[in-house]
Amino acid sequence: MNYIRSKNYENFFTNEFLMGPNSLKLMEELTSEMSLKQGMRVIDLGCGTGLTSLFAAREFGVQVYAYDLWVTAGENYNRIKEWGMEERIIPIHGDANEMPFAEDFFDAIITADSYHYYGNKSGFFKEKVAQYIKQGGQFGMIVPGFKREPDEKTHLLFDDILKEEFSEWQTLEWWKKVFIGDGLKISKAWESEGFEELWADWLRTDNPYAINDKKCLTEEHFAEMNFVAVAGTV
Ligand SMILES: C[S@@+](CC[C@H](N)C(=O)[O-])C[C@H]1O[C@@H](n2cnc3c(N)ncnc32)[C@H](O)[C@@H]1O
Repeated sequence: MNYIRSKNYENFFTNEFLMGPNSLKLMEELTSEMSLKQGMRVIDLGCGTGLTSLFAAREFGVQVYAYDLWVTAGENYNRIKEWGMEERIIPIHGDANEMPFAEDFFDAIITADSYHYYGNKSGFFKEKVAQYIKQGGQFGMIVPGFKREPDEKTHLLFDDILKEEFSEWQTLEWWKKVFIGDGLKISKAWESEGFEELWADWLRTDNPYAINDKKCLTEEHFAEMNFVAVAGTV
């Protein structure tokens, strides 16, 4: 995929903002399969430093509720003010397991490189997420995952690197089954075309986690990994 929109944000491909492989390109890829329209109310679930919220608000004119657990609302609000986006992005600190919103309040929920931390179980979407999206509204997620069902070799390769995160990574087929079971009407489910490019953007930063990733990850690892994405409606 040619990430045309993300090119306008190259100043943000830095240690300060990125929390992993290029999240702007992840969000561009995800939203290219959704239909976000000006004025829609959208949750960016697990928004991190709010980069992906900035992208959605600017590119589509949506109002974004930037919801995250590890980053405080205050930290994100400071960034949002610097960006001059306080009318369009609302920072909220909270856990995806107990969102504080009214039912049917949102036109869409988008989530990049986050949903696997909490949503990787059957029933989560149905019980904790779907009720906040209005009838016919949209959901889209993109997360790191495995290309094939993990086996012993995958464990040997990844156990020390991913640790407890290992069980959070799944294959595309696994996610499809879970979302279908939870009632999402899937419009598209796919593996990222830009995996190598997104990783290269991250490994170019001097973020300590990126430096560590560069030390630990080999071609053998990359051969097993990808980003997997699902988009659909409720
Ligand atoms: C790797 S970062 C990605 C952040 C951002 N989406 C991006 O792509 O730059 C994962 C994010 O998921 C969020 N997260 C993890 N568990 C969460 C939970 N239970 N509820 C809400 N957010 C959560 C973390 O706070 C973190 O900011």
